[in-house]
Amino acid sequence: MRTDLDPDDLGARPFYKLLTSVVVPRPIAWVSSRSAAGVDNLAPHSFFTVSCVDPPMVQFTSVGVKDSLTNVRETGEFVVCLATEPLFEQVNASGTDFPAGVSEFSAVGLTPEPSRCVAPPRVAESPVALECRLEQALTLGDSTVVIGRVVHAAVDTDVFDGDAHDGGLPAIGRLRPLARLGRDEWSTIGEVREITRIRHAEWPGHFARERYSPPTA
Ligand SMILES: Cc1cc2nc3c(=O)[nH]c(=O)nc-3n(C[C@H](O)[C@H](O)[C@H](O)COP(=O)(O)O)c2cc1C
Repeated sequence: MRTDLDPDDLGARPFYKLLTSVVVPRPIAWVSSRSAAGVDNLAPHSFFTVSCVDPPMVQFTSVGVKDSLTNVRETGEFVVCLATEPLFEQVNASGTDFPAGVSEFSAVGLTPEPSRCVAPPRVAESPVALECRLEQALTLGDSTVVIGRVVHAAVDTDVFDGDAHDGGLPAIGRLRPLARLGRDEWSTIGEVREITRIRHAEWPGHFARERYSPPTA
């Protein structure tokens, strides 16, 4: 049996609550921007993903018009920092609806670090910063998808499991990203599984669905 839900019957707000409870877990872009007047701003956005590979682009969505969106429209620049487990309280606090003249960096007690290619600062406490220039802002209903071209990435050297210029990548256990679930729930990285993609040339002809059993200690 299923429960059928129609957005028109349920209403916009309850349907939004349903959507954000099933589109889970969502990574969190900690978006740093600077207003034309020079006030730094920081806000979490969990409607966030990669939008293009080459050239590299990421996107976040502003539901309504918030300071982050206004700033990005004014200056064409923003930085996506990684929201991590040790910064849980600060990430949440930066989502408070401070007035536009207040910088979340000082209100929350985070350290602004100069970016290399754009004016908005990075969060010094965060291990990853993606410096972006606005590529496109797409308004859909009550929301705006902000797509940014990543012009520079700054990643703490000690999160890599090898030389970053020789195939080394950030290790998930050192990044410890936070994610957003529905309601007021958040998550951290749980069990990490590894599996390789099956190439068609190696397809066995039948698919034996093995039940996954976690390794025993
Ligand atoms: C973890 C988390 C994720 C959020 N994701 C979004 C989002 O994807 N889009 C959005 O518009 N607001 C989101 N919010 C709410 C904004 O962060 C909040 O409205 C904030 O005050 C906006 O700040 P600004 O006006 O400085 O841009 C989120 C809040 C939290 C705590």
